Amino acid sequence: MLYNGPSFRLEKLSHDFLKLTFDLIDQSTNVLGVTALTDLEKIVPILKSTDAKGLILCSGKPSGFVFGADVTEFLTHFKKTEEELRVWIHQINQLFNSLEDLPYPSVALVNGFALGGGFEIALTMDYRIGSPKATVGLPETKLGIIPGWGGTVRLPRLIGADHAIEWITSAKYFKADEALKFGALDGVVEDDKLIDAGITFLSRCSNGDFDWKKRREQKKSPLKLDRTESIMSFEGAKGLVAAAAGPNYPAPLKAVEIIQKAATLSRDEALRLEGEAFAYCSKTKTAECLVQVFLGDQYLKKVSKKITKETKPVGMGAVLGAGIMGGGISYQSASSNVPVLMKDIKTEQLNLGMNEASKLLNKQLERKKITPDKMAQVISQITPTLSYSDFGNSEFVVEAVVENEKVKLSVLSEVENHVKENAILASNTSTISITKLSKGLKRPENFCGMHFFNPVHLMPLVEIIRGEKTSETTIAKAVQYANQMGKTPIVVNDCAGFLVNRILFPYFNGFVFLIEDGVDFQRIDKVMEKFGWPMGPAYLLDVVGIDTAHHASAIMAEAFPDRMGFKNKTILEVMFEKKRFGQKNSLGFYEYEMDKKGKPVKKVNPEVYELIKPVVKNKIEVTDDEIIMRMMLPMIIEASRCLEDKIVSTPVEVDMGLLLGLGFPPFRAGALKYADSIGLEKLRAESKKYHHLGRLYEFTSHMNELAQTNKTYY
Ligand SMILES: NC(=O)c1ccc[n+]([C@@H]2O[C@H](COP(=O)([O-])OP(=O)(O)OC[C@H]3O[C@@H](n4cnc5c(N)ncnc54)[C@H](O)[C@@H]3O)[C@@H](O)[C@H]2O)c1
Repeated sequence: MLYNGPSFRLEKLSHDFLKLTFDLIDQSTNVLGVTALTDLEKIVPILKSTDAKGLILCSGKPSGFVFGADVTEFLTHFKKTEEELRVWIHQINQLFNSLEDLPYPSVALVNGFALGGGFEIALTMDYRIGSPKATVGLPETKLGIIPGWGGTVRLPRLIGADHAIEWITSAKYFKADEALKFGALDGVVEDDKLIDAGITFLSRCSNGDFDWKKRREQKKSPLKLDRTESIMSFEGAKGLVAAAAGPNYPAPLKAVEIIQKAATLSRDEALRLEGEAFAYCSKTKTAECLVQVFLGDQYLKKVSKKITKETKPVGMGAVLGAGIMGGGISYQSASSNVPVLMKDIKTEQLNLGMNEASKLLNKQLERKKITPDKMAQVISQITPTLSYSDFGNSEFVVEAVVENEKVKLSVLSEVENHVKENAILASNTSTISITKLSKGLKRPENFCGMHFFNPVHLMPLVEIIRGEKTSETTIAKAVQYANQMGKTPIVVNDCAGFLVNRILFPYFNGFVFLIEDGVDFQRIDKVMEKFGWPMGPAYLLDVVGIDTAHHASAIMAEAFPDRMGFKNKTILEVMFEKKRFGQKNSLGFYEYEMDKKGKPVKKVNPEVYELIKPVVKNKIEVTDDEIIMRMMLPMIIEASRCLEDKIVSTPVEVDMGLLLGLGFPPFRAGALKYADSIGLEKLRAESKKYHHLGRLYEFTSHMNELAQTNKTYY
């Protein structure tokens, strides 16, 4: 053994070849962080001074090659100045260049994920051989940064600028066979043949079969493009990339710009440009927020894993109600390989539920995402039924019948008599207290809330609601089932609206007040969409359903009368009375017509303003920033209240709930992170301007304290 450190082992193989194994101590996966890079610094001089004839770089982890740079260290790096970041990047580039410049050929063996920094280290080698499990890519732009360890320099020189731009700006992963086609891998062999293949490659370099020096030179020289080709492809790419990413995500465009600028430069000059661009992106708010979102996601996974440590998977589920939600949940369960019974009281609803599932599957079939066999298998895993006769086989029942407390109470106590003693019951109610719904049950400890979002197959979040008597075993099973369905569960304590709707409704109330003050709903939508929301509040109300929102709003007002009630008749009430329920009946704030693909397209009928007129109390001039403040303050304050009331225990859970459940703009990372980035003191001053609108705009004492002491949520 030539070296044995906490991350790397260096040993001699036959034929004077060296094997450098990355095997990060006490971790199941390899990441390039301080530990590994420190190790590498010690190894490079050894590599340079041996008389070896070739180097194999491989992973000691069956889980993969290298997952990337250690993202948990990113936020600390981002605190550095741009100059410090450039110096840091330069040091790592020196290290990577030393690996690339060794006086003998080198090959990386990619036995699984090689992403970001992990792929960049593989790119320093002359060749890359993958196993069929190899998955490579440069996903850095998803974190608001660009590849900083040579990715934008080496990849274009290896696979061509056009392809590299596509890889880097899309942040996509590429499987072994695709990577081979692009030339990012030089060969694919079975896992257990990787070492032999590595030795063969190096031997062929030694005996002159492979011109490794030419290969290396290609990665170090300027790109070979003729001028017109270069201008055309880069300018075209910039336009497309800027339009796809939008102004709030600057990294993808930055990546194209520097690939273009560096096209005529040598490796070292190109790396300097990349370092500068990396430092620039690292200092953006977007990068900080996107990294926070990544860490938030990891945190939720860790929590889920801990909760379900001793929980067996759900083998068979059941769903009550075959409507929009029940149908969606049944489909999701079946397509995740958990068979379900889908019970309704109406045959036509069962047919509707099955048709919806078929439609979704057909779409996937058309896109070649599934085979006809898989489609048939999924459909056969949903058993539509009008009776409880098979419910004894189900371990987990999700109730998704109409949102009516009486109906739900009766259905839940009815189903309890048809399931095994230890079966879990969960309600998909969006507003009714889980503690209240458990009142009629014999085994309230086996009952919880399981709040899916619409459309179930697309929305990643499931809130798991803990009622007063819910047992932790029940919570664990619900978290497990949500995970099995590929969803991200967040466990929340019971309250009206739970976490996400409790925070959403104050935002809607902000909208109601703006309408009262005479602000045009189309303008509010435009401003909030520019802020980053996927849709503005009026459009969102149409999508949610104005009848649903009207009903939920009343429940929220009853639960939190101090701040969620209204003195005047609201626009929601007016729209509801006029039966403008939104997209579901093609009439809401907007009106809808189906396009050729069956998608609703919104348009404005000026007559809607006649309906709005009676609720307009004032004609106030507001700036766009004021619109944002008036919409976002109630949301931020309620988010803080949820944390203070221990509905969840961390700001991360609040913010991730809003991201995954509502589509909160990821580049702002959630309401509490957004509050932090503005500063609590500044927000407090803003909130005072709107105290006349009610308690929705009043800071809590905890928030006042944070503001006074200059503290943040994170
Ligand atoms: N639609 C949404 O956006 C959404 C989102 C999250 C949660 N939810 C909640 O999900 C639940 C269902 O909502 P939905 O939109 O699917 O409603 P829906 O009206 O589309 O479906 C309700 C279904 O329940 C059936 N049903 C009524 N009584 C029943 C009984 N005793 N046994 C079995 N089936 C019965 C009805 O026939 C109908 O098919 C509600 O609690 C709702 O609040 C809805």
